[in-house]
Amino acid sequence: MTSISAPIQSVPVRSTPIRSVPVVAVDGPVGVGKGTLCAALARTLGWNVLDSGAIYRLLGLAALRAGVAFDDHVGLAALAQAFAMDFAFEPRQGLVAALLDGQDVSAQIRTEQAGRNASLVASIPTVRDALLQRQRDFRSPPGLIADGRDMGTVVFPDAQIKIFLTATAQERARRRRKQLRDKGIDANLAALSAEINARDKRDSERAAAPLRAAPDASEIDTSDASADEVFAWVFAIIHAGGFG
Ligand code: DC
Repeated sequence: MTSISAPIQSVPVRSTPIRSVPVVAVDGPVGVGKGTLCAALARTLGWNVLDSGAIYRLLGLAALRAGVAFDDHVGLAALAQAFAMDFAFEPRQGLVAALLDGQDVSAQIRTEQAGRNASLVASIPTVRDALLQRQRDFRSPPGLIADGRDMGTVVFPDAQIKIFLTATAQERARRRRKQLRDKGIDANLAALSAEINARDKRDSERAAAPLRAAPDASEIDTSDASADEVFAWVFAIIHAGGFG
């Protein structure tokens, strides 16, 4: 048997291997409070945030601007690879702006219509493939809070902590309405419920990376909980996992 041992000085000096950068994956349906939770976690831990929903929303807007139809799968996949997205973060506030081609489009991508368009483009497998590495590139030290539908199942299957939030459809519609009202947008609860249900159905029933809890995720029903309580529960899980 031959054994080859490399001389010690030839061992390369490496920075932190990217796969070992800790990721907290937070998945769940529309209006369950992922955004609020992820912003608070990122602020407290001082970690980076990936708002993957915002990426699909930006792509929907990019498609509208470029005149690429939502049924043009080839055109959308090409756009997904190339469109210029950027995010601005503030240490105390988390994600403060989403930019398309250098322009702040934060308000445009937060409408219900933009959510529907995002869900439509997100159902196309080649679009998701094109965005996979772009999402993984957000994984950088000291850690990443990843918000979405398939963070724990597809994008970061090796995430150290996986959380799946749930809440009743009624409660989620109520929260969504409050969120919109806080922004000065009035919304009818019944219409909002119908919109949320349609989006969840599409996101859960699509073939590519459907909304689903990873088998190793901690599932948390937030229906009767305040944002502070949810934060405390999740932070305890992260702490027990050796982070924070
Ligand atoms: O989280 P959000 O509402 O901003 O997401 C908008 C849409 O984007 C959502 O309805 C489905 C899609 N999406 C997705 O398919 N996968 C993700 N990881 C995040 C969002």
